[in-house]
Amino acid sequence: MYRNIVILTGAGISAESGIKTFRDQNGLWEQHSIEDVATPEGYANDIELVERFYSSRWQQLHSDEVSPNPAHYALAKLEQAFDGNILVITQNVDDLHERAGSRRLLHMHGELNKGRCPKSLQTFILREPFGPDNCCTCCIPAKRLRPHIVWFGEMPFGMDRIHDALDRCDLFIAIGTSGTVYPAAGFVDSANHHGAQTVEVNLLEPDRHSQFQYHFTGKAGDIVPQLVDDILDGKVIGSEPIAL
Ligand code: APR
Repeated sequence: MYRNIVILTGAGISAESGIKTFRDQNGLWEQHSIEDVATPEGYANDIELVERFYSSRWQQLHSDEVSPNPAHYALAKLEQAFDGNILVITQNVDDLHERAGSRRLLHMHGELNKGRCPKSLQTFILREPFGPDNCCTCCIPAKRLRPHIVWFGEMPFGMDRIHDALDRCDLFIAIGTSGTVYPAAGFVDSANHHGAQTVEVNLLEPDRHSQFQYHFTGKAGDIVPQLVDDILDGKVIGSEPIAL
């Protein structure tokens, strides 16, 4: 049935894994100012504050309280069983898709598990919290690693690959994203323009401006496994309600 599937995930797919979203009640942006911890200016202004913000999220990611949920595993199952092309584009910086087994994966907003040399742009697996002694090995003198995170005002990663995939896809599914941050928020328009079926999975009902053709309201961990089974059974998404 479908030959080219593109999936966009946001913080909502990791919410059931114990990772805070950004804009839900008690979300990350209620506790921190975006300007202070998610912009180059904020980093230049108070490097230690920004390092504490990302180091604490990195440490939580590697605690026992966080692990992939059924939605992550379902997307990995889809990648392994689907005989067409699939690409998971994630806005998330956690590694839960990888831990669940996804490989056809693009982190457009960077990764918590990496630091980046500010000079060479080389990335390094993070082995300790950010700080003055956590430096690159590519420069002399060594440079203090920065979070390998795309901050507001910086260019997301993989945009050429993303546009190519959106141009070719026949099914676009957005899971657990508020659709408030561009360019990700505009991917549905591109998919619609290229004739793809567009589907959204979100805890909340769609608002009247939603550009998605189909919407499934509920938890990603409940809906995505069933959605994946329907796709693998050759069903047309939206032709019948999801049987939860
Ligand atoms: N299942 C499905 N959807 C959920 C769940 C869940 N269990 N829990 C929350 N959601 C939905 C919320 O209704 C909301 O629409 O997930 C969405 C989370 O929205 P945001 O917190 O805005 O996260 P996201 O869309 O990923 O933010 C995009 O903004 O701050 C930047 O770089 C940051 O990548 C992030 C980008």
